Amino acid sequence: MSALLFEPITINGTTFRNRIAMSPMCMHSASADGHVNDFHVIHYGARALGGAGLVILETASVLPNGPIGPGDIGIWSDSHIEGLKRVTDAIHRFGAKAGAQIGHAGRQLGLDNVQSIAPSAVPFTPESRVPQEMSIAQIKEVIEAFRQGARRAREAGFDVIEIHGAHGYLLNQFLSPLANKRSDEYGGSVENRYRIVREVIDVVRSEWQGPLFLRISSTDYAEGGNRPEDFLVYGKWMKEQGIDLLDCSSGGIAMVQVNTYPNYQVPAAELLRRELGIKTGAVGLIETGRQAEEILQNQRADIVLVGREMLKDPFWARTAADDLHVEMPVPPQYTRYGSAWQRSQPKLPAVALEATVEQ
Ligand SMILES: Cc1cc2nc3c(=O)[nH]c(=O)nc-3n(C[C@H](O)[C@H](O)[C@H](O)COP(=O)(O)O)c2cc1C
Repeated sequence: MSALLFEPITINGTTFRNRIAMSPMCMHSASADGHVNDFHVIHYGARALGGAGLVILETASVLPNGPIGPGDIGIWSDSHIEGLKRVTDAIHRFGAKAGAQIGHAGRQLGLDNVQSIAPSAVPFTPESRVPQEMSIAQIKEVIEAFRQGARRAREAGFDVIEIHGAHGYLLNQFLSPLANKRSDEYGGSVENRYRIVREVIDVVRSEWQGPLFLRISSTDYAEGGNRPEDFLVYGKWMKEQGIDLLDCSSGGIAMVQVNTYPNYQVPAAELLRRELGIKTGAVGLIETGRQAEEILQNQRADIVLVGREMLKDPFWARTAADDLHVEMPVPPQYTRYGSAWQRSQPKLPAVALEATVEQ
């Protein structure tokens, strides 16, 4: 049997060996100034060895006042490039493509003793600290930082850049009427709330011609916030500006209880794909190969992103292949393990097994 999940896909000139991506996940294991270390090389290299087509690193902050928490990786200085290059080399060594997610936490800054910035002085919850409303100069500084982040990602050898526009972080804060109360050209109307995203995409595109993804929160799950239909407008503009794929996540602007269940975010990926004719990524509680295959075969998304399951199982791609009863190439060192189908066959005599291994 063959599966779409394991068919290569080409996005803006780059071919991925399959349609499985590791979803970005903060590991809070970098140095205080955002430098990666052996953990990151091994952690991300293992997911490449494990068969993912694309390994997207955790969000990398474009400015020192943008990390989500301590130990986040940074991309605000040229000194970050060398370490990130070690990670992309490890990912490439094992046949996957490497993705950099670049972002800024805005009011969700997770560092003490650093002033947080946001479109408006609106805290996340009444108990959260109040961010400083950004001046126009600060907005321009953030936009320029995204440009420099994209340049550094290119120099570090990444194959994909994903702009983090989701989960209640800075760009999401500008897009959402719940966090953006500005009355200047960066707030108010839909066009104005989108303005910073437009300018960020433009500067990133000036540095980056390869596959460009944008992660969105397609709904704020709150009265007065963004809904998937709003992304029919934003998404159209994003596509016109050269975004190749919308990575469809949700939530983060408002403190609400979200009802999650398998594939809960897939309908947004399906809607935007169908209505805008743009590639989408589906993410969120995609746990099995069959679930992933259903999404792809029914043309609900073009790739699937797997988060927590891939933390548990670096070889999730192989687990999914077993679930789908498909053969998938195995790293040569691991051929002895074989596929589920091979393991179900009568055991070879030990001598024959040794002979196979020696070849
Ligand atoms: C530990 C952890 C860290 C995360 N960090 C990020 C991040 O840096 N950037 C991001 O866009 N999403 C982040 N996420 C969200 C995941 O990428 C993913 O969208 C989410 O976990 C849902 O997918 P899953 O059900 O397959 O885990 C994180 C999730 C987890 C569990």
